Amino acid sequence: MLSLEKIKDNSQILEFIRQSHLSMQALGYTEHGLRHASLVAKEAQRVAADINLKEKEQQLASIAGFCHDMGNFLGRSQHHYWSALLFHQIFSADFSSEEMALLMQAIANHDKYTMKLTNNISALVVLADKADVHRERVSSKSLEEIKKDKHNRVNYAVTKSDLRVNFTKKQIALVLKIDTNFVPVMEYFEIFTERMAYCRKAAEYLGYKFGLIVNGFKLL
Ligand SMILES: [Fe+2]
Ligand SMILES: [Fe+2]
Repeated sequence: MLSLEKIKDNSQILEFIRQSHLSMQALGYTEHGLRHASLVAKEAQRVAADINLKEKEQQLASIAGFCHDMGNFLGRSQHHYWSALLFHQIFSADFSSEEMALLMQAIANHDKYTMKLTNNISALVVLADKADVHRERVSSKSLEEIKKDKHNRVNYAVTKSDLRVNFTKKQIALVLKIDTNFVPVMEYFEIFTERMAYCRKAAEYLGYKFGLIVNGFKLL
């Protein structure tokens, strides 16, 4: 099985992620590039470690997390399938059949319209992916432009986001710091209620309760 480090060294993968970032930027989406890929990989791995999953599952979660969005440059609506198929084409010789099936399933499963949680790896990728809300994801540079779009506005307002695991209490919380001068907390909810529902589903699949803490207040 290849390590995440080796996958990060693969020039095709890096180019797919770069092209996906450029495509998403051109279409006005939030950041879907190397920053997002690396963060989802890191967070999926960390949560897997914090809830005491085996080393192997931690590694699989980080690899699926890194590659989950790399098919966006081939088309947004089916990007999760493209990502899984590209992964298979490049790495079919580098993983066992079982590892490959789990990785492809977790990558193909992360999109909200087709999400079905059937194993820990896919739940970890969903959790890490949907929890990534942050000012750094906003591609538009001018404040004028940012203010015009709800998604940009809400992402821009989040200055700190952190997934916290409490192993003893079996809780996973998303802890956010929101600049309420920029966006009221209600607007955050309008946009992210759905996202939080997916985080909750994923946490529950892993046997955990999901919580949301915004500016020190427990909202969920
Ligand atoms: Fe995606
Ligand atoms: Fe993503």
